[in-house]
Amino acid sequence: MRDAEVSQRLLEWYDAAARVMPWRVPPAAKAAGMRPDPYRVWMSEVMLQQTTVAAVTAYFQRFTSRWPTVADLAAAPDAEVMAEWAGLGYYARARNLLACARAVVRHHGGVFPDTAAGMRALPGVGPYTAAAVAAICHDEPAVVVDGNVERVMARLFALETPLPTAKPELVRLAATVTPDQRPGDYAQAVMDLGATICTPRKPACGICPLLGLCAAQRLGIAAELPRKLAK
Ligand code: ADE
Repeated sequence: MRDAEVSQRLLEWYDAAARVMPWRVPPAAKAAGMRPDPYRVWMSEVMLQQTTVAAVTAYFQRFTSRWPTVADLAAAPDAEVMAEWAGLGYYARARNLLACARAVVRHHGGVFPDTAAGMRALPGVGPYTAAAVAAICHDEPAVVVDGNVERVMARLFALETPLPTAKPELVRLAATVTPDQRPGDYAQAVMDLGATICTPRKPACGICPLLGLCAAQRLGIAAELPRKLAK
């Protein structure tokens, strides 16, 4: 497979079909010089772990209206943030959100680090969130791998190794198709593809921008991948 063709097709698809989300800067606005706000992108990525875009949107709007900057959030009482989080679940995320906001204010003057390595050093920020913020906000060609990306890569390369054993190999494969140009839009394109077309159960291969490049589709096994170790 020609690796560049994967990102090229995904970026073309994203330019035409990117989902609208309140923390996103659409491709056309970005081309005109607008940059995504790291505070908003970071918050969205923390909320989106284990939660769908549809469920996150209202919470995101409330959090960012009430606390428009990381300094506002850092100054908020714990109980108010926990109360606003109620219903999103996985409450460790809310505690980490506050700890991270306070570290950004205390140690970084209220400005999020502009690299994945810098982000990774913040409390509660794992490799996925660090890479996503660096790619989306600063176009660092960081390798962004969440569950959606794992599924897309397993299918694109027809990797038969089951999860979780396959994870390091999936990260390696994801790195081979991550472009130097527009890595932030590319990362969001792969996640959108996983959420809307390359879905877990019935992937819509017929309308997939990677049709013809995808090894699992050619073999007729897309819906079976990624395989999972029996629990
Ligand atoms: N899921 C988690 N983060 C996302 C993003 N930035 N775009 C689309 N889906 C996502």
